[in-house]
Amino acid sequence: MRKTLVVGNWKMHGSRPANAELLAGILGARPFTADVAVCVPFPYLFETAATLAASDIRWGAQDVSAHEQGAYTGEVSAAMLAECGCRYALVGHSERRAYHGESDQLVADKAKALLARGVTPIVCVGETLAERDAGQTEDVVKRQLAAVIHTLAHCAGEIVVAYEPVWAIGTGRTATPEQAQAVHAVLRAQLQAATGHGDRMRILYGGSVKPDNAATLFAMPDIDGGLIGGASLKAADFVAICRAAA
Ligand code: PGA
Repeated sequence: MRKTLVVGNWKMHGSRPANAELLAGILGARPFTADVAVCVPFPYLFETAATLAASDIRWGAQDVSAHEQGAYTGEVSAAMLAECGCRYALVGHSERRAYHGESDQLVADKAKALLARGVTPIVCVGETLAERDAGQTEDVVKRQLAAVIHTLAHCAGEIVVAYEPVWAIGTGRTATPEQAQAVHAVLRAQLQAATGHGDRMRILYGGSVKPDNAATLFAMPDIDGGLIGGASLKAADFVAICRAAA
């Protein structure tokens, strides 16, 4: 049985007062049947950790360096994230791939760096609208995931995967539950073939998940929760999504 996981991706939003209010709202709404986590901007990690430490809400980062340490100005290592108590870190979010030119291999190397420090990578994959329209959805997500599987080898079973169709992110245009389920099934089969326990791995859906569509998405057989952007910034909305997990 896979436990539902709901992860907030704050992106480059927040301020100390806003974060305090948001986290208080989430803490006050416990308990949840789902596992719940927030991925926050780097400067807020320590304060988030202090706020959440005594709870069962987890926290994480939105990116990491593939390098262990050294002269990489501006980068943040997996060891640093581990020191901040991060349970998770996103890698390969489509905004990183698009705006920072991250390749499939770089994403895989970042996932490897995280696992070496005991931080669970949430590996994001997803096709653009042009790729979907060209019938390439399966090929694209399988290629993105294959790079990670190949690089992690026997550790590949330790990741969380997030399917996020690029055309659904921040657009209000959600994939239908059936569209999302179809891709999740493909990813599950790929994970199963590679690890032998894909049936126990969590695959999240992301892209305009809101309180009014979360329950139908999470009810699909291969959708194990969500990666929530915009709706994770309002406590009431995020809490409603966390509660949508049956
Ligand atoms: P969204 O973002 O929920 O605002 O569409 C999801 C994501 O980018 O992780």
